[in-house]
Amino acid sequence: MLDGDVVLITGGGSGLGLGIARHFISEGAQVAILEIDEQKLVTLQAEFGDNVLLVRGDVTNTDDLLACRAATVERWGRLNALIGSQGIFDGNIPLREIAIDRVSSLFDELFHVNVLGYILACRVFLDLLEESAGSIVLTSSVAAYAADGGGLMYTATKGAVVSAVRQLAMEFAPRVRVNGVAPGAFTDSELRGPQSLGLENHKQSDIPKEAFAATFQNLTLMDSVPTPMEYAPIYAYLASRHNTVTTGQTMLLEQGALNRPTLSSPQGGGGIGV
Ligand SMILES: NC(=O)c1ccc[n+]([C@@H]2O[C@H](COP(=O)([O-])OP(=O)(O)OC[C@H]3O[C@@H](n4cnc5c(N)ncnc54)[C@H](O)[C@@H]3O)[C@@H](O)[C@H]2O)c1
Repeated sequence: MLDGDVVLITGGGSGLGLGIARHFISEGAQVAILEIDEQKLVTLQAEFGDNVLLVRGDVTNTDDLLACRAATVERWGRLNALIGSQGIFDGNIPLREIAIDRVSSLFDELFHVNVLGYILACRVFLDLLEESAGSIVLTSSVAAYAADGGGLMYTATKGAVVSAVRQLAMEFAPRVRVNGVAPGAFTDSELRGPQSLGLENHKQSDIPKEAFAATFQNLTLMDSVPTPMEYAPIYAYLASRHNTVTTGQTMLLEQGALNRPTLSSPQGGGGIGV
């Protein structure tokens, strides 16, 4: 699917981005990862060695992005796809429970990482992607499509990603295709909370695996919580040269969560009046 393609994954240190990296390598891609967390880079180095270009950096920092761009050009001289996968979560806290003097800083922190980070990366790598007639895939969430996938700030950032995908697809056409993926829950996420609420050390992976699986299994039509690798083939298709038909779309991969039975009982039948 990606034979010979050079792909940059921002936020590829764990969770979804790491699953995408592993899958993309198996599909023949040369992979670069931009990651802020030093410890994760050590683990990545142990797994991938020099096969993957590992760049430490903050995707919201223009200098870090330019350094990543320079390292990518130095190693391969080109870029075929940019995958945006970094993100932070807002802890699902209702707006009324957030102290008034924290709302602004929470907004800034979430929008910086979850939205500005994608926009800056698109800007910095655009010329390379134009040269290669490449592709961009950004990560939204089911939270953009239905309430309660996060708190207000997280859901607003993920809605912003859907809008950004539409606008950038129009602006970057016809050379560069821009699409999004909106996943539901998945295993092995280390998605962390915001510093502005003192939750930067709280991670999704703190929830015991069984409790996490039990919660999310009941929220979809499927009977298991997917791994990041299960979402990765969709990213691969959208990122690849084989996708000549889709731009400006965000694919909602929510395991049927938005079509759960409302009237019928899960065992079948038993709707209102039956
Ligand atoms: N976990 C879920 O259930 C879920 C569901 C839907 C969508 N998502 C989205 O999927 C994406 C990946 O999340 P994940 O669950 O794999 O979390 P994760 O924390 O495991 O992976 C995100 C990575 O991004 C890195 N990162 C954070 N800020 C960064 C920055 N400023 N610069 C560079 N790297 C940075 C983190 O260190 C981490 O390695 C996010 O956009 C998230 O919002 C997650």
